[in-house]
Amino acid sequence: MKLESQNLKRLDELFYSMQEANACFLGYPFAKDFNYEPLWRFLNFSGNNAGDPFEPGTYRVNSYAFECEVVDFFAQLFRAPDCGFWGYVTNGGTEGNIYGLYLGRELYPDGVAYFSRDTHYSVSKAVRLLRLEYAVVDSQPNGEISYDDLARRASGGRNRPALIVANIGTTMKEGKDDTLKIREVLRDVGVSQIYIHADAALCGPYAPMLSPKPAFDFVDGADSITVSGHKFLGAPMPCGIVLARKLNVQRILRAIDYIGSSDTTLSGSRNAYTPIVLWYAIRCLGTAGIKRVFHQCEQLAAYTADELNARGVSAWRNPDALTVVFPPVEEDIKAKWQIATEDVSHVVVTPGTTKRQLDTLIEAIADSGS
Ligand SMILES: Cc1ncc(COP(=O)(O)O)c(C=O)c1O
Repeated sequence: MKLESQNLKRLDELFYSMQEANACFLGYPFAKDFNYEPLWRFLNFSGNNAGDPFEPGTYRVNSYAFECEVVDFFAQLFRAPDCGFWGYVTNGGTEGNIYGLYLGRELYPDGVAYFSRDTHYSVSKAVRLLRLEYAVVDSQPNGEISYDDLARRASGGRNRPALIVANIGTTMKEGKDDTLKIREVLRDVGVSQIYIHADAALCGPYAPMLSPKPAFDFVDGADSITVSGHKFLGAPMPCGIVLARKLNVQRILRAIDYIGSSDTTLSGSRNAYTPIVLWYAIRCLGTAGIKRVFHQCEQLAAYTADELNARGVSAWRNPDALTVVFPPVEEDIKAKWQIATEDVSHVVVTPGTTKRQLDTLIEAIADSGS
């Protein structure tokens, strides 16, 4: 394969434009300081993790062993039941959310889905795809679900199972829903069949280490949990992890002769490279490293909120959050720093975000009088 010079030039242009965009990327939660150079050699091969990573299959061009170690790492972190869990490396948080709700729907086909107004748009897509009846629940001002509104809405459907999506870090405000409280509220209004999917896209890797620990894991009543791999841990391409109770996965399993394995995942062909990337990240960091990096980010998030407030911009963040929320910024700031904006704007201090970048952004926001 050989490119003509004009196409080589186009590649160079794309490279420099992506490099520049990465240097001004503060509004979405992607870590930026990773170095996976030792893994580049794997890109010389065709790799495919089609099938169930925990089973042997006809395909041998896979990284199953590493995928299983990634799943095991998160299973421990999320206090999954010994031998009672299953999981795989996904394309990202969206796939994990669809998967969690799919398992919930197969368990409770007449279930009603409930999720808060602040929930990521992938969940609205999932309920439409799965043709689930659903109710959108009010949120509290900090982004957390309103338990009162959940009680009100669920009491109307008390004879039907409830399929809940709990946010462990909402997209805009990093608000965290409490799965123990959700179960209690539902039981109080008479709902006895409950499936909880926890969307821990950003906070999954560090939430278990917070004190107090948010209630979101398997012991706290979650039935499935999803994490984005490219958010806090960082990866050069989107990826994620989904974990679920094994019994619920066995319900959807189909044996497939063509691949000599069970079909338990959403996608057929799956990325063999991203499990190696995630394995590399967790082996380099370990839980101690995740905790250390989280604290560095958290200090910078606190600094950002303080500095904005000192300049008259009313910024705030949830306890232990890496997301700093402030009033909507001007269009030029939004475009330059790729600042996600709805009714509020935010910056997410992920690994690799520098004080220098934040200082430049703080000055720009203060000067604009946002
Ligand atoms: C809370 C939450 N869930 C799910 C997603 C979707 O994740 P992905 O972009 O990896 O599909 C996001 C993405 O921003 C998110 O913030």
